[in-house]
Amino acid sequence: MSIISKDIRKAINLLQEDQLVAIPTETVYGLAGNIFSEVAIGKIFKTKNRPHFNPLIVHIPSVSKLDQIVSHVPEKAKQLADTFWPGSLTLILPKSEKIPDLITAGKDTVGVRVPNHPTTLELLNQLPFPVAAPSANPFNRISPTKPEHVANYFEGKIQMVLDGGACEKGLESTIIGFENEEPIVYRLGAISLEDIEAVIGKVAVRNTKENRPDAPGMLLKHYAPKTKIVLSDNIDRDLQQYASEKIGILGFENTYKHASISHQETLSSQGNLQEAATNLYQALHRLDEQDLTLILAEKFPDEGLGKTINDRLKRASS
Ligand code: TXA
Ligand code: MG
Repeated sequence: MSIISKDIRKAINLLQEDQLVAIPTETVYGLAGNIFSEVAIGKIFKTKNRPHFNPLIVHIPSVSKLDQIVSHVPEKAKQLADTFWPGSLTLILPKSEKIPDLITAGKDTVGVRVPNHPTTLELLNQLPFPVAAPSANPFNRISPTKPEHVANYFEGKIQMVLDGGACEKGLESTIIGFENEEPIVYRLGAISLEDIEAVIGKVAVRNTKENRPDAPGMLLKHYAPKTKIVLSDNIDRDLQQYASEKIGILGFENTYKHASISHQETLSSQGNLQEAATNLYQALHRLDEQDLTLILAEKFPDEGLGKTINDRLKRASS
């Protein structure tokens, strides 16, 4: 019997028994456990094979619960929360004393967000505790955007995937931290920089090209398929160069023709960046199942969600 189920009651019971449940969000599926249960949090790290220095995001049902999680909210963080929650924004803020060190990997800050998915909001509203939920993939693998992706990764290791269908946004949340009350983007994500800046003005973006353990999701090699992937700003030229490979194409709006193409994914034939984002990880999962020797991924326009998509493709190809 499949572990995929719509039974919220069952999810609540499992979480109350220190078990893990994969939960749908509008960004990607998360692997959830009770933030106050050492047993559950230990299982999250073990199941994902995640290094213990990498902190977890706390998921709460509404902005009104924020004061129980953090000790201080800068003015611009308030504005962002009021504008984007429920939604795909994670705030990194000074943690409240109640938040266990296991969640924050010993840091004095904690990541928190209100996800925008009706099933998970209902779940969170009925639970007597918040859940910690990293993306529901093994460390360094592609984030899951459908319940089947999670089941493929973790069947036999977790008891339930709460079925909320395919994720609407398809990219992880945008992460913003604060230094001296000023915002810094730690991870580009499902809310574009332009949309953030429309609310709080210009924000700094951390140079994410290096391996920085202070924002471990930014480790360079991340979000990676097993198949070798090359980021291309000229697919036709690279098709010539790699002509002897068995190639899969991950394209934005165009389709390509070449004898060595054996599988092709076009993310949005309309050239719509949100549609492309929604399809990105599903397409990468499919490409990774084709026994290709090479994935050629087309570089996206460097604007809006195109920036986030390029960030993920760079990491996947590094
Ligand atoms: O969209 C999302 O954010 C999804 C869904 C499930 O909510 N979650 C997610 O979690 O992407 P995860 O663990 O895969 O990525 C969270 C990132 C990690 O890179 C972690 O290092 C960073 O957030 N993070 C969490 N707490 C932090 C903190 N206190 N300081 C700095 N970085 C933090
Ligand atoms: Mg992740």
